[in-house]
Amino acid sequence: MTPAASRTARRRDRRVYLRSHPVLFALLCATRRRPVVRIGRTVLVHGAEAYREVLTGVPLDRTAPGTTGGAGARLTDGGLLFDQDGGEHRAARRALAAELTSGALDRIRPHWQAVLAARAPALADGELELVSLSRELTGATVAALTGSGHPPEALVRAAAEAASAAVRDHLPGPGRRPRTGAGAAAAAAELTTLLPDPLDAMLAVAAVNTTVAALPRAAAWCAAAGLWPTTATAPELAAELLRLTAPSPILPRVAAADATVAGYPITAGDRLVLVARHAAGAHRTGPATGPAATQAVFGAGPHACPGAGLARAQLADLLLALAPYRPVVRRARVDRRAALPGYAELTLRAGRAR
Ligand code: HEM
Repeated sequence: MTPAASRTARRRDRRVYLRSHPVLFALLCATRRRPVVRIGRTVLVHGAEAYREVLTGVPLDRTAPGTTGGAGARLTDGGLLFDQDGGEHRAARRALAAELTSGALDRIRPHWQAVLAARAPALADGELELVSLSRELTGATVAALTGSGHPPEALVRAAAEAASAAVRDHLPGPGRRPRTGAGAAAAAAELTTLLPDPLDAMLAVAAVNTTVAALPRAAAWCAAAGLWPTTATAPELAAELLRLTAPSPILPRVAAADATVAGYPITAGDRLVLVARHAAGAHRTGPATGPAATQAVFGAGPHACPGAGLARAQLADLLLALAPYRPVVRRARVDRRAALPGYAELTLRAGRAR
């Protein structure tokens, strides 16, 4: 990526999270020079080493209100396994991770590739909207992973609503009231009706929001930078774009015990805002500083994202499907209500030099 191309792409991508979460990112930007910053009982963790230390070494309260795990558990009557500990949960999580890293890729890939094969050729003589395509792609993936016979769009709608309720609960900003009312309860009920196995529900929640946020942002970056991969370069480009865009930019957690992180004392009950975006070095220009930076956007330690390989493969396939058209952005609208920074609409059209 040339420096000028990457500057344009970065500037455009910046608009996405600044518009969708202005208060949060202003706060994070103002405090990022120190690895750990305390504001009352809230501790902002920016440094790469401090971030890794928390995720691998500090006991975390995985069901506390205001954390991803706590919101998920509440939404599904304690059924959602997101971030929970305990023998049964550990075994279930291990099984899921094994399934996602070994068997699933080859088995599931044809499902999302079919979506790409059906939709991408629209660029030949028209436009292609990437948010709806990403919903379709993640719906096909989740339906295949869970073996659900329900329409993929219904799974996506229910998982997106439940995830949105779970994540928005702990993000500060205007209009971000906790969704604890009828809407959130209905979303949770819908999700558990469609996917009664809590493991399937967790997987859908984890996959849908991140994918719908990540794929369009990465494609917009490529379009702005005029940067499209070949089969040989796609995997590395996909991993780097996920680092640069950090689709899940903060991980809200709560300390379950006293600890010391990067020399700073943490007290049990402290609210920890782990800034994945800064741990990954996504706010700096220049390439990744190593595998730890590339991994940081997927977390670290025993709860690290088991879908990382799948997410990278999906993005690589999407970029390869778009590449022949050298698309440019025709219309873009940021989603101000979404749980994660992302687009409500990203419409591409084929570029001139094809
Ligand atoms: C760009 C896409 C994605 C991003 C950025 C992302 C990021 C993350 C992050 C940051 C975590 C928390 C890690 C930690 O606490 O250390 C996580 C957890 C998780 N992710 Fe992903 N993820 C993505 C896609 C997916 C997909 C496609 C799936 C499934 C197919 C998935 C399944 C999960 C699961 C099941 C967990 C919970 C793991 C646990 O608590 O043990 N993710 N993800």
